[in-house]
Amino acid sequence: MFKRSLKLAAKNYVSMSLQKLDIYHVRNLERVSLAPAAKINLIYGANGSGKSSLLEAIHLLARASSFRSTSVKNAIQFSHEELIVSGKVHFTTGHVSHLGIQHNGKQLQIRIDEETKHSRSELAYALPLQLIHPKSYQLLDAGPQLRREFMDWGVFNQHTDFLNQWRQFKKALNQRNALLKTKRVKELNVWNHELQQYGTIVANYREQYLTELQPIFFKIADQFLELKNLELNFIQGWEQESSLLDKLLADQEKDLRYGFTHSGSHRADFQLLLDSRKAKDFVSRGQLKLLVLSLKLAQVELLLNQGSQSACILIDDAVAELDYLSRSKLLAFLAAMDIQVFMTATEKNEFGDLSQIGEYKMFHVEHGAIVEA
Ligand SMILES: Nc1ncnc2c1ncn2[C@@H]1O[C@H](COP(=O)(O)OP(=O)(O)O)[C@@H](O)[C@H]1O
Ligand SMILES: [Mg+2]
Repeated sequence: MFKRSLKLAAKNYVSMSLQKLDIYHVRNLERVSLAPAAKINLIYGANGSGKSSLLEAIHLLARASSFRSTSVKNAIQFSHEELIVSGKVHFTTGHVSHLGIQHNGKQLQIRIDEETKHSRSELAYALPLQLIHPKSYQLLDAGPQLRREFMDWGVFNQHTDFLNQWRQFKKALNQRNALLKTKRVKELNVWNHELQQYGTIVANYREQYLTELQPIFFKIADQFLELKNLELNFIQGWEQESSLLDKLLADQEKDLRYGFTHSGSHRADFQLLLDSRKAKDFVSRGQLKLLVLSLKLAQVELLLNQGSQSACILIDDAVAELDYLSRSKLLAFLAAMDIQVFMTATEKNEFGDLSQIGEYKMFHVEHGAIVEA
């Protein structure tokens, strides 16, 4: 029934929001029950009060992973055996979805509508989540891994078959690298063809995604910054002119010598150019942050434009790094978007100009207790 309603609304995404959240034993949050606003939620409290833990709990619920630790286990409250996060997602179609995640120190359990699920991706589709935190600001000046994750978040939410294509590529890559290390040259051929097939699909998806993202990004960046002649430049992981197969064959000797595959979708990247030069080398720190913010917001807007459902944005401590005008612009932008937002700051007055946004809820966090303020 839910599938059908999604189909009916194919052109117009289904709006959704987390309307009930229950947290047990996540970091310093012993037992928290929250009824968030459908749109803007502002969370403030002193350092160490539990703000990031709250966002982490939402992240756990939506992704079955933490953004602070590689292991969910670390989020279990000290001297407790397990953590539980559950939530109710309301859709404008009237549908309500129950999500739940539990970790008992050994095992992770995911539940969607009373059913146990075995893949994280099902959760990710049930509650698309965008995260912006201080580390996000490294998007344009750190290594390419963050930028690949950025592109793949977008493609993953656009194409349900992407994850599988990407896994096939990774599998072929691992096989080929194993053969290179043991110098089994004869067996390389079959994996070269697999890499060619899946690598090309992955590259096409990513390129198409950036092409679609670009105009939306320009429009948003224009609201925060006065930078002209911006360009998103996709790097697929091998020379544009040649096929991946040709490149693998040309590289074979070098790959054998080093024992790994030099070219392919695992080396993909993108650059943000300003007047044909890498923006990161010329813009100010503040401008760079606003560019990253615009890219992340553009992703959500694109998802709304073509996705079947809306998304939720977590913004942890990220506003503290912006000036007051930018914060106010951000807040107004978020309020105008059809999304749910959870945003943290240490003080109530750090969120920007609240008079220009409509409905919102403010929460105060103190020693792991959260009350509506
Ligand atoms: N596994 C854990 N169990 C209990 N408390 C923890 C755990 N991990 C971290 N903490 C504590 O949780 C508190 C809240 O941290 P955090 O949510 O990051 O605060 P904030 O974002 O408000 O600054 C910190 O005091 C931290 O020491
Ligand atoms: Mg924090």
